[in-house]
Amino acid sequence: MDSRIIDDAIEYVRGIFAHDYGGHDFFHTIRVFKMAAAIAKREGAELLTVQLAALLHDVDDVKLSPKTHRNRERAVSFLSRYDIPQETIAEICDIIDTVSFAGTDTVTPKSLEGKCVQDADRLDAMGAIGIARAFAYGGSHNRAIHDPGIPFQEEMNREEYRNSLSTTINHFYEKLLRLHALMNTDTAKAISKERDAYMRSYLSEFLAEWEGVR
Ligand code: ADP
Ligand code: NI
Repeated sequence: MDSRIIDDAIEYVRGIFAHDYGGHDFFHTIRVFKMAAAIAKREGAELLTVQLAALLHDVDDVKLSPKTHRNRERAVSFLSRYDIPQETIAEICDIIDTVSFAGTDTVTPKSLEGKCVQDADRLDAMGAIGIARAFAYGGSHNRAIHDPGIPFQEEMNREEYRNSLSTTINHFYEKLLRLHALMNTDTAKAISKERDAYMRSYLSEFLAEWEGVR
């Protein structure tokens, strides 16, 4: 296999995400790439598949690239430039299709490689960085920071989750605080435990300040 493929993929995603300010920027992809590789090494997954799936996991995201989403055109056209077996391309596409959180329609990737990428993507939605991304995403989608009059919705399907006009504080209850229990690998679970605790303490501070008790 061409050893430049990882470097080329990094440059490819740099071009695609350079001007994203909604929580899916280039550095998100790079963090997922590094975290997925670290998890893969610990869990014994096939490294190159994990690295490529992590680097390409958001290039055909329905929110960012609705036209290429259905056939994952960007991921496939990038991978087709290299001497990669069709079945590896199909496996990477399968991972890309299954990593995303989609409320009650969320699925667990079949392969260990997919599980590593999903865990890495979810870890990046947690902790200090996850909090920053949630408010960046909320602001860029005209969502309120918090509104005590808007209740959070526990069970949303893929469409409801995507179109929800909920607040960013509600997003913690709708998604972020659920991620720790959903981790696939023990390696990720150990990391998510701390990030989960950090978010919970952030939320209690936020709500205490909101109520004026601090
Ligand atoms: P995934 O990486 O599973 O595809 P999304 O694309 O849904 O996840 O989310 C990307 C980032 O934006 C995450 O950090 C996520 O928490 C945040 N985000 C998604 N939906 C909302 C929302 N309704 N309010 C605030 N942040 C959100
Ligand atoms: Ni992502």
